[in-house]
Amino acid sequence: MACHLWAFILFVYTCNVSCITINIESAPAVRNISSKFVGVCVDSVTIRYRWGNMNFTSPKLLTLAKGISPSYLRIGGTPCNYVIFNKTQHTSQLASDTNFTMTVADWDNLNHFVMNVGWDLIFDFNVFLRKNGQWDPTNAMELLKYTVKQGYKPAGYELGNEPDDIPEEDAISPQQLAKDFASFKSVLTASGVPPFLTIGPDTAGITKSYTGRFLQAGGANSVDVCTVHHYYEKGSTAALKDFTDRNILDKFKTEVESFVRTCNEKAPGKQCWLGETSSCYSGGAVNISDRYAAGFMWLDKLGLSAVNGLQTVLRQSFYGVYVRYSLLDVNLNPNPDYWLTVLYKRLVGSPVFNVTQTEDPNVRVYAHCTNRNSSIGYKPGSITVYIMNIGSETVSTDIPFSSSKTQERYILSPGDDNGLTSQFVKLNGVVLTLPNDYELPPLRPLYSQGTLQLEAYNMGYIVIPDAMKAECL
Ligand SMILES: *[C@@H]1O[C@H](CO)[C@@H](O)[C@H](O)[C@H]1NC(C)=O
Ligand SMILES: *[C@@H]1O[C@H](CO)[C@@H](O)[C@H](O)[C@H]1NC(C)=O
Ligand SMILES: *[C@@H]1O[C@H](CO)[C@@H](O)[C@H](O)[C@H]1NC(C)=O
Ligand SMILES: *[C@@H]1O[C@H](CO)[C@@H](O)[C@H](O)[C@H]1NC(C)=O
Ligand SMILES: *[C@@H]1O[C@H](CO)[C@@H](O)[C@H](O)[C@H]1NC(C)=O
Ligand SMILES: *[C@@H]1O[C@H](CO)[C@@H](O)[C@H](O)[C@H]1NC(C)=O
Ligand SMILES: *[C@@H]1O[C@H](CO)[C@@H](O)[C@H](O)[C@H]1NC(C)=O
Repeated sequence: MACHLWAFILFVYTCNVSCITINIESAPAVRNISSKFVGVCVDSVTIRYRWGNMNFTSPKLLTLAKGISPSYLRIGGTPCNYVIFNKTQHTSQLASDTNFTMTVADWDNLNHFVMNVGWDLIFDFNVFLRKNGQWDPTNAMELLKYTVKQGYKPAGYELGNEPDDIPEEDAISPQQLAKDFASFKSVLTASGVPPFLTIGPDTAGITKSYTGRFLQAGGANSVDVCTVHHYYEKGSTAALKDFTDRNILDKFKTEVESFVRTCNEKAPGKQCWLGETSSCYSGGAVNISDRYAAGFMWLDKLGLSAVNGLQTVLRQSFYGVYVRYSLLDVNLNPNPDYWLTVLYKRLVGSPVFNVTQTEDPNVRVYAHCTNRNSSIGYKPGSITVYIMNIGSETVSTDIPFSSSKTQERYILSPGDDNGLTSQFVKLNGVVLTLPNDYELPPLRPLYSQGTLQLEAYNMGYIVIPDAMKAECL
């Protein structure tokens, strides 16, 4: 109601406000997500770079990592196929130009780090170690034996990366990879490592049909989690305007629907994850994919993934050396997407609702029950709506279930005059920065009621603690 009134008044004085209605469908809610729905990746190549500035004992790194706990950390990517575990070598000395060593210290540091910050490790093994056309488990067995001896508990293991994108000379057919995964799974089981997930095939995309053929050829019996990767476009050719282009955002919707269909049909009962994902591949887009603008693709992807039934989304990357899409920059300073992720972790819970809004295609909106398991302590019945305005005009809308009830608004906008290419983000008008190496800043909401005016290129989360939504009680 309030919105219509406002539309009328504003129409008289100014014409650049669009007024929309959001509908959150009533029960049943569509999907559940877990507290580890959002996870992160670090590319295997980071081992080769001696982890760059990712100093596992740095208080700053530990603080930032704990800020998004619980989480998966996947160490994987194309360079996984060149990693060789070496028990005796103590330096990073390259085994050759392409192959490189993971030392005992690398593995120890990594496992201690995840335990320290409350994360769960996923490790991607080298599928290029082969003998007579089959995957050769010898090196993996050494690592697993050491893992058992040390009592480490990685949550999951993968074998290879983007098999649908391997150059012809090294190509592995979906049928052969399914065989390799069967032996991978039996090697994992026989090793005596604690309960684990077998995760794969980590295809680059769904369009080449490799995923389906792998699952059909027996892969479905070996994996607990079926994975695909997703990037909207190539970093070197991506333009800033693409990041707020609804047609580009919608392309993901089509792909995720197709992936979930394949996964459910060919691997019934198995989980479906985005095993590695970001805005742009090939390391990202300079001065865009690590800036404020990246948040639209990220938040929209999380919304579409949850509503379409994915159980986990692994963001490439948490940290990286020569890449432009990480949550942290190369000096471990948080990029805008880090803060967006922290808020998602704290505010967004389960189950997930279907939301409709048909008036303004530049407004994208999602709704879940509020996360009641975060330190904020939201009460039963709370809902969290997340919304972004990719249009150039302010949008006016009433938030469902909030009539005369308090809304806790967490509205994000560019951190400085660089606008969409700002390296910073404001929360309710205040730039977010780490106050010191030991704590995150307070992330305080604005307490409001009534119609929301969401400015152009702003996004945010709105919690309605008193929504009394039945599915959230
Ligand atoms: C979501 O979880 C709740 C509580 O565990 C359960 O009752 C409900 O059936 C689940 N919904 C779906 C769609 O899985
Ligand atoms: C609640 O949070 C704790 C600490 O992060 C975690 O161990 C636990 O699994 C969470 N519970 C649920 C139901 O998500
Ligand atoms: C890593 O961080 C610790 C703690 O701050 C510090 O003592 C150590 O020198 C750092 N190591 C490197 C290689 O920067
Ligand atoms: C480990 O490194 C040593 C010394 O460089 C080498 O002799 C050995 O073959 C390596 N082992 C593996 C599994 O690559
Ligand atoms: C890398 O390791 C693989 C597997 O051991 C081997 O076949 C390949 O020749 C190595 N590459 C180089 C360039 O040494
Ligand atoms: C990226 O931004 C930095 C300043 O933030 C600037 O120095 C650099 O030239 C920019 N690079 C490109 C390719 O736009
Ligand atoms: C939610 O929306 C999807 C896609 O439009 C539809 O298939 C599904 O049936 C809806 N679920 C409910 C519970 O309304």
